[in-house]
Amino acid sequence: MNQSDVLAALAQKEYVKNSFDLLTNIEKESGKKLTASVITFGCQMNARDSEKLAGILAASGFKLLEDTEDADFVLYNTCTVRDNANQKLYGHLGEALSRKKKNPSMLIGICGCLPQEPSALEKIKKSYSFVDLIFGTHNLYAFPEYLNRLLSGERHICEITDHADNIVEDLPIIRKYPFKSGVNIMFGCNNFCTYCIVPHVRGRERSRESADIFEEIRNLSANGVKEVMLLGQNVNSYGNGIEGEISFPELLKRVCEIDGIERVRFMTSHPKDLSEDLIRTIKENDKICRHLHLPLQSGSTKVLKEMNRRYTKEQYLDLALHIKDEIPDIALTTDIMVGFPGETAADVDDTIDVIKKVEYDNAFTFIYSKRMGTPAASREDQVPEALVKENFDRVLKCVQESAKKQSLRWQGQILPALVEETNASLEGYVTGRLSNNMIVHFPGTQDLIGTIVSVKLDECRGFYYMGSRA
Ligand code: 5AD
Ligand code: SF4
Repeated sequence: MNQSDVLAALAQKEYVKNSFDLLTNIEKESGKKLTASVITFGCQMNARDSEKLAGILAASGFKLLEDTEDADFVLYNTCTVRDNANQKLYGHLGEALSRKKKNPSMLIGICGCLPQEPSALEKIKKSYSFVDLIFGTHNLYAFPEYLNRLLSGERHICEITDHADNIVEDLPIIRKYPFKSGVNIMFGCNNFCTYCIVPHVRGRERSRESADIFEEIRNLSANGVKEVMLLGQNVNSYGNGIEGEISFPELLKRVCEIDGIERVRFMTSHPKDLSEDLIRTIKENDKICRHLHLPLQSGSTKVLKEMNRRYTKEQYLDLALHIKDEIPDIALTTDIMVGFPGETAADVDDTIDVIKKVEYDNAFTFIYSKRMGTPAASREDQVPEALVKENFDRVLKCVQESAKKQSLRWQGQILPALVEETNASLEGYVTGRLSNNMIVHFPGTQDLIGTIVSVKLDECRGFYYMGSRA
C-alpha cells in the first residue's frame, strides 16, 4: 500500500467505529436489533467483494442474515456482464420495493459492476428512485463512509468514479467458508475483448503488491484457511506495471510455500498470456490444483480476431493439448460464446471442432449479449435469434457429451477431497471438492468439514461422484 492507501484505510476504519455508535443509538430508539444482508450476483470477484461488504456491515454492528432479502438493510452486489444479469436485478428491486412499503425504514443499496454502466445507472435513478445508496466498483473501499452517511440520515447517496484511486488493504471481512478463501491479486482488465463490458466497469488492470498478498494469505492460514483461490480477470499478466514485481508463476510458487496452505487455485487465465513457466510450475507443485479454466470464447480464427482475443484456433488448440500432455490429470474447463456478430454456422463448426479435440471437463456456454459502449454492440451484422439458438443448442450438446465422457475418467480412483459441507439432501453424507474441482458425496459427519480426506470415487453420476472413505 502507498501512503495515500494507508490514510484511506485509516479513515475508513474510523467510519466503521462511528457507524457502530450511530447504529447502537438507532437500535436503542427502535428497540430492535437491525439486520443486513448482501445479495451477490456474478463472478468470484463479486463473491469476494461481498465478503468485504459483509465484514464492514458486521463490524458496524448489523446482524448479518444469509440468503434472505428480509433485512433492514439489503445491499445488492451486481453484475452486468450479460443483459440477463441486469434483468435479474430489476426483478429483485421490484420485490424490494414491496418490502420497503411495509417497512419504510428499510435501506436498499446497489453496488458492483452494474451502476458503473452509464445507461444502467440512469435507469436505476429513474425507475428505482427508492434506492438509498448506489456506489461502483472503484468506490467499494469507501463503503464504511457511505454506511456512516446512511446511518446519519442521508439518502439517495450515489458515488461512482471511473477509475480506482486506492487499493485499500485490511478492512474487516467475513468469509463464507472458514477453510477456503478467494484472494484478489489484481483488479480490472486491459484486454478489451470487443464484446466485453468488464474493462469498462472494472477499469484498467492493477496488480496488488506481492508482499500484501503474502501477508493476507499468511493471516488467512493462521485463521484456518487451507485453500486459496487467487483471483484476477487475467492472472497471467500479474505484476505488469509494478516495477520489479515477481511473475505469476513465481507468485504461485511462493504462495504454495506459505505454512498451512495445502491447495492453491487461480482464475482466470487468458490463453494469449499463458506461459511455459506456468505450465511447469503447475506440474511441479502438487499444491496447485489440477484445474485450469482457459476461456476459448470461439473456435473460429475469424471470430477470435474480431473479438480481439489475440490467438488463433490453432494456437489455442496447440496450447490446450500441450497442457493436457504435460499434466494429464488436469481438468480443463472453458467459457464459450455463441452469437457474436457476424458468426456463421461454419464458425460454430470450428468451435465444435475445438471442443471435440480438447475434450473439456466442463464448459460454460453463453449466448452473446449486446453490451452498450462495446465495439461489437454497434455492429450491424448481429446474428438472428433463431440461428443463435440453433447454434447454441449444437454447442451445448457437444459440451455436455465431452463433460460426461471426461467425468468418467476418474472412476475408481482414490483422490484427496476437501470436505466443504454436510449434504443437505442426503442424511449422513458430506460433500467434498477434488483438486480437479469435481464434487464427491460420501458418508461422513460434520467434524470432517474443512479437512482433506482420501475418497474412493465409486460411481460417476454425470457431473459428480458418489464415493467412500479410502
Ligand atoms: N455476452 C455473452 N457472454 C459474455 N461474456 C463476457 N461478455 C459477454 C457478452 N457480452 C462471457 C465470456 C467470459 C465470461 C465471464 O462471460 O465468455 O469469459
Ligand atoms: Fe472481458 Fe476479455 Fe477482460 Fe475477460 S479478458 S474480462 S472477456 S475483456
